[in-house]
Amino acid sequence: MMSRGNSKTVCLHGLTSSVVLDYNDTEAPVWRYWGARLQDEFDATSLPHYLNPAPPATLTTESALTLAPTYGAGWFQQPALRAHRHGQQFVQQWQRVTVEALAHNHLQFFLADDIARISLTMSLRLNAATDVLTISTTLNNHGHDALTVDCCASATLPLPAQARHVEAIHGIWANEFRVEREPLTRSTWRRDNNRGRTSHDNFPAAVVLCESATRHVGHVYGAQLNWSGNHTQSIERLDDGAYQWQLGEAFAPGEVILESATSITLASVSAAFSPHGLNGLAQSFHAALHQRLPWRDGAMPPRRVHFNTWEALYFAHSELELMTLATSAAELGVERFVLDDGWFHGRTNDRAGLGDWWVDRNKYPQGLMPLARHLEALGMSFGLWVEPEMVNPDSDLYRQHPDWVLSVDQRESILGRHQLVLNLALPEVSEYLFHQLNNLCSALPIAYLKWDMNRDLAMAASASTGRASYRAQVLALYQLLRRLNDAFPALEIESCASGGGRADAGILQFCHRVWTSDNNDAVSRVAIQRGAMRWLPPAVLGSHVGAAPSHTTGRSQSLDFRAAVALGGHFGCELDVRALDSVSRHTLHQWILLYKRLRHQLHHGVVWQGEAGDGVVWQAHGSTTSLVILIYRLQPTAQRYPPTMLLPMLAKTKRYLIERIDPREPIFDTTVAVKNHKCLFDDINGQGARLHGEWLANHGLTLPHLMAETAIVLTLNAISDDT
Ligand code: DGJ
Repeated sequence: MMSRGNSKTVCLHGLTSSVVLDYNDTEAPVWRYWGARLQDEFDATSLPHYLNPAPPATLTTESALTLAPTYGAGWFQQPALRAHRHGQQFVQQWQRVTVEALAHNHLQFFLADDIARISLTMSLRLNAATDVLTISTTLNNHGHDALTVDCCASATLPLPAQARHVEAIHGIWANEFRVEREPLTRSTWRRDNNRGRTSHDNFPAAVVLCESATRHVGHVYGAQLNWSGNHTQSIERLDDGAYQWQLGEAFAPGEVILESATSITLASVSAAFSPHGLNGLAQSFHAALHQRLPWRDGAMPPRRVHFNTWEALYFAHSELELMTLATSAAELGVERFVLDDGWFHGRTNDRAGLGDWWVDRNKYPQGLMPLARHLEALGMSFGLWVEPEMVNPDSDLYRQHPDWVLSVDQRESILGRHQLVLNLALPEVSEYLFHQLNNLCSALPIAYLKWDMNRDLAMAASASTGRASYRAQVLALYQLLRRLNDAFPALEIESCASGGGRADAGILQFCHRVWTSDNNDAVSRVAIQRGAMRWLPPAVLGSHVGAAPSHTTGRSQSLDFRAAVALGGHFGCELDVRALDSVSRHTLHQWILLYKRLRHQLHHGVVWQGEAGDGVVWQAHGSTTSLVILIYRLQPTAQRYPPTMLLPMLAKTKRYLIERIDPREPIFDTTVAVKNHKCLFDDINGQGARLHGEWLANHGLTLPHLMAETAIVLTLNAISDDT
């Protein structure tokens, strides 16, 4: 056995996880452990400083996984860093290492290579309340000449040999957040995104499940890159059967060349381990995100009921139409009216106008103030759609400043939805956009911006330097958003990118909600929202009652089902509510009242998801003693009797009162006359049923017969200790 000599060991402890690293003054810190919580009394100094026995035919170097493996000095797996100076100094080796405790559970490592004349500053902070480990990395060039950086992972994480599966998110427009499970094998697992925005295709995160982990139990690991641009991640099997997991930004060729005495701070990684399965992991990420959403004064206000004009009117804006729509929405209980695309200069369709951020006087002869006043009188706040990063060639802005777009000399620019991308890294562009947005938000009572972004980046170079500008674009976007946050602290911003194409934890440093998907079909939405909730809490997931048939799938579902699905996120309406008959208006109004009654628990409570089987899925919000449960039957049953639904999070010593609270007609199970037969839902529909937590956790709640594409909403409240 080999010893690392005079190594010191450091531990970070959360509620349910611990991290252990070894370090000494002359070698890179080695990952010793990331997993289930070790006891407080755990004595790190007693850890045996042994490494694996050296295999035959090996080099004299050891191959333990470090915080930042380097290239060319005995590590044969993927390194965290690939960099060189004009083809030389491609080998790096950390030889000078210091560690500083910045705060409780917060360490800063400094790793220097004095030959390559580079260093890494890496901060590791384990939040003791959420168990989220945040890793931030800065690469410094101390040399006299430029360092070309081909890649630099933000984090290299250890995974145990018991890791079996990885679940990542893939998708397309209108079908985002699809969870895809793959086995971990000897082949390196990898996901790349080069679309310039977070993308519908690959979400910058994954979950790794150890053997026998489920929704509710078992060891799971998760990590996400807090970034809204190009990204890459890989999981690679190591020689001892364990794995390394690297996440980082992806750079275009030549994009990162560090001049002498400069540095690059990379997007941070948030990672967590949970011994409580997928739900435990998601709860950690939800809690961590809630802690850092940019609310004024730090407190999330109640999430208002939205009305969005897009699928009701598209580009056919007229002041009169909008006012009648607003009145009709207000009568239903809507609290915020978001005027979507179509309000600004020259915007009669999606071929023109982007860039000209002043009101279209043909549609709004007196500007937007009359509409804003009308909303105010109705008690609704005003939201406005913008797409600041984009410009249509058919716009005054482009005619004046064709040089403001990202482009490559001598190559024809590629259009997406008839638009080009402004180079936000040019100070004059960011200044122009801030000025336009500042004008709008100062002149009108705008409480909310829906910030859209409707194309991938291609040929994203700065016209003046010819160098790739994907990364600079994201940083400049963040800077612009930060400036708006500072100038208008009460302004809420929604991140939209053709639906959920930019719905990541990076953008949520500056935004308050994401538009989860353009797909408002409730059946599709259940899967989309369930995937998104792996990472994002329901309070930030825009979720609207759309029209039937759905504009993106052509399918129809009942209004009750559409509303019950919207209840699972941040509730809104996106249909012409004037066209609803009086029964439907009454129904929608009842669901809006229910949402208002439940929203505190829906958005501040802990979330559990589960599957009852036979086409039934559920999500529960609250605490182990008080829950709201949304139950969705997606498929027609294939069983003679309905399934039972296990609720393993309930307190085993308590009895619960179960009540049905959705505004649908009661579902009575005794439609078939069976002698002496009484069904649970006969009581649940009526005065409520009382059942024991232990029974519900282990046997489960017996569900009623439900038609396909219907939902029920229950509350479960602990009523006594059963001692
Ligand atoms: C794409 C968004 O996802 C939609 O919700 C809508 O805002 C349109 N853009 C408007 O152009």
